[in-house]
Amino acid sequence: MNIQHPRPTVATPNDLDAYWMPFTANRAFKRKPRMLAGAKDMHYFTTDGRAILDGAAGMWCSNAGHNRVPIVEAIQTQAATIDYAPPFQFGHPKAFELASRVAALAPKGLEHVFFCNSGSEAVDTALKVALAYHNGRGEAGRTRLIGRERGYHGVGFGGISVGGMVNNRKMFGTLLTGVDHLPTTYDREKQAFTKGEPEYGAHLADELERIVGLHGANTIAAVIVEPMAGSTGVLPAPKGYLKRLREITEKHGILLIFDEVITGYGRLGYAFAAERYGVTPDMITFAKGITNGAVPMGGVVVRDSVFDSFMKGPDYMVEFFHGYTYSAHPLACAAGLATLDIYREEGLFERARALEPKWADALMDLRKEPNVVDIRTVGITAGIDLTPNKDGVGKRGMDALDSAFHDHDLMIRVAGDTICLTPPLIISESQIGEIMDKVAKVIRAVA
Ligand SMILES: Cc1ncc(COP(=O)(O)O)c(C=O)c1O
Repeated sequence: MNIQHPRPTVATPNDLDAYWMPFTANRAFKRKPRMLAGAKDMHYFTTDGRAILDGAAGMWCSNAGHNRVPIVEAIQTQAATIDYAPPFQFGHPKAFELASRVAALAPKGLEHVFFCNSGSEAVDTALKVALAYHNGRGEAGRTRLIGRERGYHGVGFGGISVGGMVNNRKMFGTLLTGVDHLPTTYDREKQAFTKGEPEYGAHLADELERIVGLHGANTIAAVIVEPMAGSTGVLPAPKGYLKRLREITEKHGILLIFDEVITGYGRLGYAFAAERYGVTPDMITFAKGITNGAVPMGGVVVRDSVFDSFMKGPDYMVEFFHGYTYSAHPLACAAGLATLDIYREEGLFERARALEPKWADALMDLRKEPNVVDIRTVGITAGIDLTPNKDGVGKRGMDALDSAFHDHDLMIRVAGDTICLTPPLIISESQIGEIMDKVAKVIRAVA
């Protein structure tokens, strides 16, 4: 099959005006664009032919590296076989196959998969499953949803309501009512420069007892947390924290949702972080790595007892009034199956686990660089906090993103003044060194 050369010559368009870019400083970007035209394995290629080392797996997505031939071919073949299949009342074989494969990777007892197209949709789907579950069991009063400060759960109204990133919430009115938040698990004074899960902070899960005391357990439907908060700057869960959340939710009949849109598919060395922590939630949301980022897809893995509670009433009736035109899209399913094959055949989850100590050690060497006030690592992720510069919060971070791309041929992500690193899991040890050298230069350049 004909696969395009990864370094296509693509002219930069003259007019950048029409495209309103998401989560982007549009005016600054359009003054000095960061334009990508091709990708292969650990690199992106710019429109002017520079190779950019990918320190971000695109956006926490491409865990197997870019433009992997089996995934490209699977998408090409599927597009030529069945371009689209309606997911309401019809099915196509790869949807069922992929659901079985995802369920097999999830903790025992989570055996049913609902597909959608993004992490945001996965979150809103999980929240709706939780509400409908309680409603169907005669506990319609359980409508309250609990998120966490500094949590990110996408941009749907459900997701921003339970999310705890202020800029994502403050312009959008009243959001969902009946939402409360656990405190963030991050405390720099007690946790700075920790490799992996911090010792301090398990007790912060007990705040859920306070929230239950305040509102009454019989008003609470679900708690949603990321096992590692990614978008807010890589905040690993403290040791024992997730277990405690599980105990408290179980005690009060509250569903526990792990948002694994980032942590799923190997980022923390396991298919799902639930396995790393030995904690089984009632639902897991996923997206990004399921297709290696190649085709949009998200989904929710649901516990048997929750799924079974919907399977009642006349069997010609729709059981759950929810779904998307592109749920289980054939191209996404084909990409997902090819992706899971690569993860398995190349042992990428195990590889991430094996690389984690070297990754963490390499990161901590950056401690001596100017303005670094904390470094956190877990799995193949890292957050490096820089102090804000005199221009205000976020300016040093943006300067770092720009310097990395234009001057050091490196793609990073930033959250405010935090540099986030999440390279593809195929990264070699020498490429880890290369990233650290480049990041050190970037930090110095913006000092
Ligand atoms: C934990 C988490 N949930 C949800 C989302 C939203 O995913 P999407 O951008 O695909 O809607 C993200 C995206 O980064 C995420 O990190």
